[in-house]
Amino acid sequence: MNLETTEKLRPDADGLARAADLLAAGRLVAFPTETVYGLGADARNATAVAGIFAAKGRPAFNPLIVHVADAAAAREIAVFDTDADRLADAFWPGPLSLVLPVRAGAGLSELVTAGLPTVAIRVPGNPVAAALLNAFGGPVAAPSANPSGRVSPTTATHVLDGLDGKIAAVVDGGACTVGLESTIVATGADGARLLRPGGLPAEAIETALGRPLAAAETPGTAPEAPGQLASHYAPEMALRLDCAAPAADEVWLGFGPAARAADLNLSPNGDLVEAAAALFAALREIDRLGRVSGKARACVSPVPDTGLGRAINDRLRRAAAPRPQGG
Ligand code: TXA
Ligand code: MG
Repeated sequence: MNLETTEKLRPDADGLARAADLLAAGRLVAFPTETVYGLGADARNATAVAGIFAAKGRPAFNPLIVHVADAAAAREIAVFDTDADRLADAFWPGPLSLVLPVRAGAGLSELVTAGLPTVAIRVPGNPVAAALLNAFGGPVAAPSANPSGRVSPTTATHVLDGLDGKIAAVVDGGACTVGLESTIVATGADGARLLRPGGLPAEAIETALGRPLAAAETPGTAPEAPGQLASHYAPEMALRLDCAAPAADEVWLGFGPAARAADLNLSPNGDLVEAAAALFAALREIDRLGRVSGKARACVSPVPDTGLGRAINDRLRRAAAPRPQGG
């Protein structure tokens, strides 16, 4: 049901001023980050944050990532330990979210943290996101700007495909350069733990910390990052992973030079950065190819499990998982 006209805003001074005004009025504004488009609301406004869950049709137990303009703003909201200081210095602005204790009196809506004593927070590197956060001047809660259980959007068109008529505006900042959600790390007494592999390779984090991260939880088990349901990235197509070649009734999503004949190739040269940036658009495109060719399944070439490949494989496994309701 379309309840409102979604404004499509340019990432210029006028467009960003309008977007900031809408956020201040408690409205929902989708905006580009370097990872994926976020569906933003004023993180201090409970009604606005509740609107995110309504627009996405999202189970309300998922806490949201808070986006701020810089590390100083993050320190007003969360309590940093030594590891958090080191990671923020090394990687912000950028595709890293830190899960840290909420600072008393931070003023966040309880819905943002889903009642947890911790908050996930990040400083996005995308210049449009940075300009919007500066124009707004407060914390913006934003999950990926897609209906719950669907592929994350990496263009403004993807956002409108899922949420047109359900949100006040989208700022069109072009295609996301990273294309995978942020890496989520929790720091604390037991050391730094990887809660979600993402756009910042775990190896880079381990280098900055000078020691290994504790492993991510297995997808589908009682999740510490509770939004990490196994089917969180589901395309319509049933996916078969790690295949060398397609069956007659399969669309082929390839990777690397061995898959030159694929219907679609995440990176013909086998470049993981290029593949990450292309992944979510490719999951949408294989659905379209399936519809036009009458094929209900897709096979996906193997992707090396190193660097960004770990996050790509995590998303592919979730996309291939059986689908419970919700997510
Ligand atoms: O790149 C990204 O991270 C994008 C852009 C828009 O910033 N956002 C994003 O948000 O992916 P979302 O809501 O789709 O995923 C947020 C993840 C969920 O898995 C959620 O459970 C986890 O962060 N999370 C949030 N707060 C948490 C907390 N306090 N403890 C553990 N996990 C948390
Ligand atoms: Mg999401």
